[in-house]
Amino acid sequence: MNILIIGGGGVVGRKLASALVDRGHLMGRDITKITLADIADPELKAGSVHITGLACDITDPASVSEAITPETDVIYHLAAVVSAHAEEDFEAGMKINLDGTRNILERCRTLGTAPVVVFTSSIAVYGGDVPDPVGEQSFLNPQTSYGMQKAVGELMVNDYSRKGFVDGRAVRLPTISVRPGKPNRAASGFMSSILREPLNGQEAVCPVGEEFLHYYLSPRLCAENLVRTAEIEAGALGMNRVLQMPGRTWSIRQMIDAMTAVAGPDPARLIRWEKDEALLKIVGGWRFDIRADRALGLGLIADDSFEDNIRYYIEDDRG
Ligand SMILES: NC(=O)c1ccc[n+]([C@@H]2O[C@H](COP(=O)([O-])OP(=O)(O)OC[C@H]3O[C@@H](n4cnc5c(N)ncnc54)[C@H](O)[C@@H]3O)[C@@H](O)[C@H]2O)c1
Repeated sequence: MNILIIGGGGVVGRKLASALVDRGHLMGRDITKITLADIADPELKAGSVHITGLACDITDPASVSEAITPETDVIYHLAAVVSAHAEEDFEAGMKINLDGTRNILERCRTLGTAPVVVFTSSIAVYGGDVPDPVGEQSFLNPQTSYGMQKAVGELMVNDYSRKGFVDGRAVRLPTISVRPGKPNRAASGFMSSILREPLNGQEAVCPVGEEFLHYYLSPRLCAENLVRTAEIEAGALGMNRVLQMPGRTWSIRQMIDAMTAVAGPDPARLIRWEKDEALLKIVGGWRFDIRADRALGLGLIADDSFEDNIRYYIEDDRG
């Protein structure tokens, strides 16, 4: 089994690569090769599986052709510029999130090998005047360019699958928390930094009130769900290749209480509360009443409690 992770240098890509290495097999076959492709050749994780790094720019069809070969069995397409970045730089969002996705699917079409393609979409596809709860049956009404680009990506994955060019799956990721590493340019950055920084003894600013609700999943279970998504029988997906990846809705207060339950009272004291009205305008419109019944029925999972998210961060990433 030869697996290509495009955007493999990012947070989710690295988690997924580790999960695949630990597992050693996918879809009933031994994993013989994993390639992490990213704009700069990503650092490699040592392990029993042969992992190769590859510099690849998905906006360049020639670079995509180098990465996707006739031997590629499964492609995880994770490469993207995230929400705030795509909002500030419309051109970059269109080139990377939209044209880049099309370049990947087109390469598969011309190769004719119909690989499994798992595309990471986002709950940013929901929005506007659409009734709660939202899920796979909802009308898509994204309120950001990033959300629009993800929605178009989903439609392309569906259509390229219908035509038999790929065996595609698009999964709408909840917000990943606790996200390790440095903050990125996502408007959701504080949803991890108010936990990650205090757990590392550093101050953090919370720009929303403690009653703020949102839909989350831990990085560990996100990687596990991506593995499971590739393994779903195509027939079980029918005419809709899009799944809502399961998450859970938590308030900021519940998340901080979970941190205190796991790590004691000190980290929470490092949070400063400073409302950011501009940011609230963006995140205040995000949907949190989200249903993932179909994905749950197909074997995808969500965290049992936010304490799990905190524990996973401490076990897998802290320091
Ligand atoms: N993390 C979340 O909370 C979340 C939520 C919803 C959806 N998603 C989606 O999941 C995927 C992975 O998210 P992440 O948190 O790991 O993001 P990330 O920013 O850590 O990783 C994305 C990777 O894509 C790479 N990339 C950007 N432009 C590229 C290009 N032109 N060619 C090749 N690679 C390029 C980046 O260098 C980066 O390493 C993304 O598609 C994101 O939109 C993430």
